[in-house]
Amino acid sequence: MESRLEKYIELPFKHYTPRKEHPDWEALNREAFILAKSILKHLTILDARQNLKLRKRRFLAIIKTFKNLVKNKIKMARGDHDFIPIFYIWTMTNACNFTCTYCSNHRGGKYPDLFKEGRTKILTTEQGKQLIKVMRDASAIYYCGGEPTLRKDLPELLDYSTKLNMFNMINTNGSLIGNLLLKPAYKNFLMHMDVLIISLDSLIPSKLASLYNVKETFAKNILRNILLLRILREFVPFKLTANTVITKETIDDSFDILDWCNDLGLTFSPVAMNHGCNPDLELVRDPTYLELVDAILERSRSGYPMIASTTMLDRLLHAKLERCYPAVFDHVDNDGGVYWPCKSYPGAVKINALAWNNVKEVHAAGSKLINPNHFHGKGAGKCNGDCAWMQDCVTEFYGNALVEGFFDGGLFKEIGGLLR
Ligand SMILES: C[S@@+](CC[C@H](N)C(=O)[O-])C[C@H]1O[C@@H](n2cnc3c(N)ncnc32)[C@H](O)[C@@H]1O
Ligand code: SF4
Repeated sequence: MESRLEKYIELPFKHYTPRKEHPDWEALNREAFILAKSILKHLTILDARQNLKLRKRRFLAIIKTFKNLVKNKIKMARGDHDFIPIFYIWTMTNACNFTCTYCSNHRGGKYPDLFKEGRTKILTTEQGKQLIKVMRDASAIYYCGGEPTLRKDLPELLDYSTKLNMFNMINTNGSLIGNLLLKPAYKNFLMHMDVLIISLDSLIPSKLASLYNVKETFAKNILRNILLLRILREFVPFKLTANTVITKETIDDSFDILDWCNDLGLTFSPVAMNHGCNPDLELVRDPTYLELVDAILERSRSGYPMIASTTMLDRLLHAKLERCYPAVFDHVDNDGGVYWPCKSYPGAVKINALAWNNVKEVHAAGSKLINPNHFHGKGAGKCNGDCAWMQDCVTEFYGNALVEGFFDGGLFKEIGGLLR
């Protein structure tokens, strides 16, 4: 184990140049090392048995994706846009230990504010499992919030979705994960997680602290935790991704994060700040922002790991996504309600997933209320949105695969990229 750890002592900075406001990386990496050694005492790591289980689960998820694609293509040919979703985002809780300046729930609200208003009850662990069972025809689950790591039953729910052969992803602010991994309940967490996405909007702890409205030491923990996960990835094959919300105030920070991620071998997931169902149009026309996008696309072309292909990033970051079929993925709220047909649509209805046996029934109930056919676009009875969130890349490339040939829309390239 010691010999496998050794290569992480050095931080291989090539593109990235530390700035005086940035942390002392060597000191932070030493902290990450100490924590990694403690966690590795109990962490389930990749051995022959785990490898077999992982391959089997991913293989079954891919087969399901294929079968659903065929069924969805038949639906598309019939003009029926009520698809079997490829994945669903589950807002497990609105609660959050941060109050980020840019936080948006796609509907004009901020998650921590929604939690404080206290209008909704979250699902119990058993109800959470029931939700996962109802939604099991989707290939992947995206654990989200609010802050998903605030839920004590997160590892138990993850074990459950793993048993159902789901492909698992999580989006977290990353502040708690280091300490949580020390807990026995978290021993399988990384082994069961396929993609771990941590929000990262600056490398300056004081700036992070003011963006997230938390103490600077707490903000610094996020950076330490990312270094920790980089080390643990030597033993468990999850994909470690940094999600950067680009705002006018953080364009320079995003340049640094791009370099930092590329040097450390992390997947980079950039997105322009959205306001509800619209990207920040002033930002996406800003010359410095456009320079940043060029730099990201150049790195993507050079083969540095990115969350999506160069083509998709180009469309996303220039807010040029065109094709969207909202039923391609679902957004499940903390009370188990599926927003239909799209969470960003102000007139969306909520379908209680727990009242149904499977996702087909959930969608059928939604379709009776709002017809999802040709829903995206401008005009009466349409969404009238222009979203450019990362998940809209999926509605675009999956939509391409539904309309065009299997191999024309880049679907397999995108899924392959996620698994790599
Ligand atoms: C709502 S958060 C929930 C998960 C977790 N609390 C976090 O922040 O990582 C999911 C993702 O949406 C991003 N996000 C939040 N508000 C956004 C906005 N206005 N535009 C674009 N992305 C946003 C966050 O940075 C995060 O990566
Ligand atoms: S950490 Fe996530 S949920 Fe919490 S305030 Fe920030 S963006 Fe919103």
